[in-house]
Order: sequence, then C-alpha cells, then structure tokens
Amino acid sequence: MRKWLQKQRAKSRLRKAFQAAGLYVTYRSGERELKVFPKIHSVINDIDRIEYVFTLISGMDPKEVLKKEYVFQQVFGQHVQLEGDYKRFTLTIYHRGLPNELSYSFEKIKPHLEGLALPIICGMDRYGQYIAYDAIQEPHLLIAGESGSGKSTQLRSILTTLIQYYDESKLHIYCADLKMSEFHIFKRCKQVKTVCTTPDQLKRMLSFINSEMTRRSQLLNEKEIAHINELPLNERPPYILVCIDELVIVKDDKDIMNVLIQLVAIGRALGVIAILSMQRPSADILDTKIRANLTVRMGFRAADLTNARIIGTPGAEKISIEQRGRFLLKREDLIELKAPFLPLERAKKILEGYKSTDWKDAISSDFEAPNPEYKEDVSEEKILGVLDDGVDEKR
Ligand SMILES: Nc1ncnc2c1ncn2[C@@H]1O[C@H](COP(=O)(O)OP(=O)(O)OP(=O)(O)O)[C@@H](O)[C@H]1O
Ligand SMILES: [Mg+2]
Repeated sequence: MRKWLQKQRAKSRLRKAFQAAGLYVTYRSGERELKVFPKIHSVINDIDRIEYVFTLISGMDPKEVLKKEYVFQQVFGQHVQLEGDYKRFTLTIYHRGLPNELSYSFEKIKPHLEGLALPIICGMDRYGQYIAYDAIQEPHLLIAGESGSGKSTQLRSILTTLIQYYDESKLHIYCADLKMSEFHIFKRCKQVKTVCTTPDQLKRMLSFINSEMTRRSQLLNEKEIAHINELPLNERPPYILVCIDELVIVKDDKDIMNVLIQLVAIGRALGVIAILSMQRPSADILDTKIRANLTVRMGFRAADLTNARIIGTPGAEKISIEQRGRFLLKREDLIELKAPFLPLERAKKILEGYKSTDWKDAISSDFEAPNPEYKEDVSEEKILGVLDDGVDEKR
C-alpha cells in the first residue's frame, strides 16, 4: 500500500512538472477543457534515484521536452537527467538524501509560501525542495514525538515564519506554552494575542476562541456563505491560529477538551486553525474526536512502531536520536523531511522587529480586526481578563 502511494505521489509530481512545462495537449469536451499529459509507463524507486519512463502524445514536439529540462530541475531539484528520442523519454532524478543540517532561512522559505492562504512550513525533502502546505485547505496539525526530537523547534519556525509573512490584519496567533519553556519569545509580537502558560489561562483563552467561533458562524449564516474566505478582503476577519505545546498537561480538563473538539470540527470554515503538540497522542491523552480531525501529522522520532502508528506516521520509530529535526509528514501520503533549525536566540532576534513597543497599546488594539465594522462580541473586560495574566512579566 505504501509503495503504491509513493508511486502515485511520484507520478503526480511528474504531472505537475508536465503542467509547469506546458507539456500537454488540450481537448474540448463540451464546456470543459481537458489536459492530456504524456503517458507515464513506469516509476522505479531506487535507493539513490527515481527513474520515470514516459511517452509523448502523438503530435507533441520532442525538442520541446528537451528544451524544458530546466522545469524538471525546478520541480525535482538540480540532479535530473533527461534522455529520449522522438517519443520515448527516461527521466532520472538522483536523490541527494535529506540534509544533515538545515539552517532556517526565511528568504529561502518565502517563495514556497506564495499562493498559500495560511502557509505552514514543514521542511526540506530528499530532492532539496522546501515543502509547505496551506492550513486553510488542510487544517489542523498534530506534532508528536519523543522528548528532544524537535517538536518545539518546529513550532518555533512555523510561527516565526508566519509572523514574518503576515501582519496582524491577516493573522492572530494564540499560544499556550504549558511547559513554560519556549513561547515567551513570541510575547508582544503584534500578531500574537496571548501566550498563556497555565491551564487556567488556557481555559480563558479557549473560551474567548469559542465565543469568536460562534460569532464567525453567525456571520457566515447571515451572509449565506460557507467559508470566511468568500468574504471580500476588507470584511474578512484575520485567520486565527491556536497553538498549544504539550497538551498532555491539561488532558483531563473537560472544558479545554470540549472547546478543542469544537474547534477542530468546525474551525476550518471560520479560519480558526489548531496546531497541537505532544509526545504521545494516545487515546487516553488525546480524545479520538480531536485526533481524527488533526488531518496533518508531523511524526518526529517515536519510541517504537506502536507509538509511531499512534501518531499516524509508521516509520518514525526508525529515526535515530542523532537525527534530531527529522520527521515524517503525513498528509495524503507519507514523506520524510528535515525541519529547518532556528535556534531560540536567532528567533528572538528576528522577532524583535515585529514587537509592539508598548504592551498596553498592544492590549487595547488586541482583537481589532482589519474591517472597522468588525467588532468582537466580547466585552473589553473579558478580553483583558483573558490577557491579564499574559502580561505578568512586564509588570
Ligand atoms: N530541525 C532541527 N535541526 C537540528 N537540530 C534540532 C532540530 N530540531 C531540534 N533540534 C535539536 O534538538 C533539541 C531538542 O529539540 P526540541 O526542544 O524542539 O524537542 P522537543 O520535541 O520539543 O522536546 P520536549 O518534548 O522535551 O519538549 C534542540 O535543542 C536542538 O538542539
Ligand atoms: Mg518541546
């Protein structure tokens, strides 16, 4: 099954390359225009290479294929070899393997985020390509793995990337750092509405998110639309990203879990997206109603196959302790990636440029949406109540 999926994925990648290179013939069928790509006869997956054999549709110019070798390089990385005659071609892609170290670089990542409504950067694949996905299309994410495997580091680069990419008119981030280890670096960033560190604060934060989801649902109802993205830009509320590191600490808190169940069930249409991280998302820790809706999984090193399966990324048990930052990304299929490494001190430096100079100002402008008509349906006291504890540090 896994081999079959890998093959399908490899084929769809080649079709993407055909599409980008304009290597197809179009037919009209009634109203619709159909694209017919060259026929892929075989995909051989070897340790160090993938070999494709494909043939052109009659009438296609073989010189066009050779001229477009650069497109194959753009899609598959530099190490490609293309050979063929008038009809039959062999394309070989040599794996470079995953990089041992991948230093975080926003400049290199940024081009891969374009066109994605809420881009989540994942890492680099074995072809040397950055992989990012759109959390509005594929909403909620689970990051799991052993202690020290790279979960918090991954969260750090996902959030730091988004903060550099979108301002607060587009994105509001709500963080919970129940281990109180990492997320303080995001405090006072304009997009970050709160960083809570206790279960009680988290409860209040989620209760606010809950009321905001109700408000947004009513808005969709009134406007008779299915997704906030259908609203004109000037009426669209910002996306909300709820990010909780180490959820296990509040596993027995029913109030928290109930909001999360609701969030992952209906959040997508409302532009409210969750990222949850924990070591081991077994049923006694993470309600299956939540787990089932966390459709994207990042499985860092797991203790054994059972744990890797619980995460949804079998194979993660083979990642060794020395390979920190490696993980399996499960979306429709499973691929191995290397996460970019952004050390805490570097993240702090980057984030300095995105902080509000006056924390009190940051509070009063909190929850202010881009559209002046758009007002949150909560009293200011309630908002301040939610945030009050988040500002302890500054007092
Ligand atoms: N992408 C990466 N590239 C290289 N090294 C990494 C990467 N990610 C993490 N590391 C190394 O692993 C260490 C632990 O990572 P991190 O704190 O993210 O783990 P964790 O999964 O959150 O652990 P815990 O469950 O204990 O919180 C980091 O301090 C860093 O040295
Ligand atoms: Mg951690």
